[in-house]
Amino acid sequence: MSENSSKIKFYSGESIPLELHKVRVVQKLHLVPIERRLEALYEAGFNTFRLDTKDVFLDMLTDSGTNALSDRQMGAMMIADDAYAGSQSFVRYQKAVEEVLGKKYLLPVHQGRAAENIISNAYIRKGSIVPMNYHFTTAMAHITQYGGKIEELLYDEAYVINSKHPFKGNMNLEKLEKCINKHGAANIPYIRMEASTNLIGGQPFSMENFRGVRAIADKYKIRLVLDASLLGENAWLIKQREEEFKNSSMAEIILAMTDLADLVYFSARKLSSSRGGGICTDDYAIMKELEPLVPLFEGFLTYGGMSVREIEAIAIGLYETLDEGMICQSPQFIEYLVNAFEKKGIPVVTPPGVLGAHVNAMEICSHIPQKEYPAGALAVAFFLISGVRGMERGSVSNQRDEYGNETYADMELLRLAVPRRVFTLSQIKYVEDRMTWLYENRNLIGGLKFVYEPPVLRFFMGGLEPIDDWPQRLMAKFREDFGDSL
Ligand SMILES: Cc1ncc(COP(=O)(O)O)c(C=O)c1O
Repeated sequence: MSENSSKIKFYSGESIPLELHKVRVVQKLHLVPIERRLEALYEAGFNTFRLDTKDVFLDMLTDSGTNALSDRQMGAMMIADDAYAGSQSFVRYQKAVEEVLGKKYLLPVHQGRAAENIISNAYIRKGSIVPMNYHFTTAMAHITQYGGKIEELLYDEAYVINSKHPFKGNMNLEKLEKCINKHGAANIPYIRMEASTNLIGGQPFSMENFRGVRAIADKYKIRLVLDASLLGENAWLIKQREEEFKNSSMAEIILAMTDLADLVYFSARKLSSSRGGGICTDDYAIMKELEPLVPLFEGFLTYGGMSVREIEAIAIGLYETLDEGMICQSPQFIEYLVNAFEKKGIPVVTPPGVLGAHVNAMEICSHIPQKEYPAGALAVAFFLISGVRGMERGSVSNQRDEYGNETYADMELLRLAVPRRVFTLSQIKYVEDRMTWLYENRNLIGGLKFVYEPPVLRFFMGGLEPIDDWPQRLMAKFREDFGDSL
């Protein structure tokens, strides 16, 4: 029987995500007073990306590069083979890709967006259309940089915040065929499927749906690209939610998924709890099309801009993705937090997905119009009253259209990421506690406006400010209710 914590029942009947690891290396955290957190927000332009970790208590910005490393990964990093060319670390990375992802050709890149750059450079031309289940910020930015456009083809259910649909990341197959017929297969260099659609609440797609996409790709002879950055958790949810796979191993599910794609790319910062990235394929012609771009943008073909230590950590991390006890930890903590929020009436995306709990800012801050960025406002308000740093996943994270007009996001979410094996249950309970207080005081949250807006990926370094003194009023209420508590 596979080890995962949902198999462990408590006598009390409580549903508790029990940790299947022990902590052996720790990092001290600091919870600075709310007055300092307010100063920090002004210094950071009311953008949680720009906060310093010295002011952050629980860093729930992302799981990217922040998942806990295992003892085996750290051990492997000590025996890395430093060489510009022909490093044995790369040979071990290749072997792991072949065994775990089932692809024989591997092109190393320094992170996920570097893979997106290379794929877009090779295939996107002015007028190209890339149909996808949903966009990710960097994927879309690269496609548009090279003159292409994206089309998001989800089922309506995906946009329903509170749903029981197990696979909200499914591609709408009817819309996909319509899109191909409208634009013509010749203008569609590839179809992109993103495992565990990041921006709509970490929602997976089903194997059945992915097979359907493959059939359409075959019919029209279009390449199928899989963004596998969050593949492990998508595979785990397939095991939980898709009858056909309930007795399959993680290895079988992952191989069945990658087998359907012509080209697989990933951010190793996410997929394998490490850093770096990769592009892999079984198709020699595809490999040859992309290969020359790696030394141009990334580095030689056996390191691709990464340190050999990171390469060793990726190889081990890929094997560990097959361990249910490891991969279930983050989704089960997320489920716990989402259920706790729901019990308190706090609007949150359901069913619980992967990556993090996604709080519905559009509803919590229904008094803030989208042009004043409700998700951005909720993110900074939550940091102010808790020291917990989440990420805005709403209109601030959207890019302007080709004419420079603001485009509003389908959802205004505050994502509270739960990286693998990083937080304890009492820390998660702290998040629940502070969010409950903020929800009760939500009328004190106000809007934001941009004061500095970078032209590309504005959410990373953009600067905002509150539209009035609402942060001061929120802080005063915190002091009233919590006294001298941190
Ligand atoms: C689904 C998905 N694709 C691509 C990327 C980009 O990867 P990276 O941050 O390593 O460039 C991310 C990063 O969060 C992601 O979530």
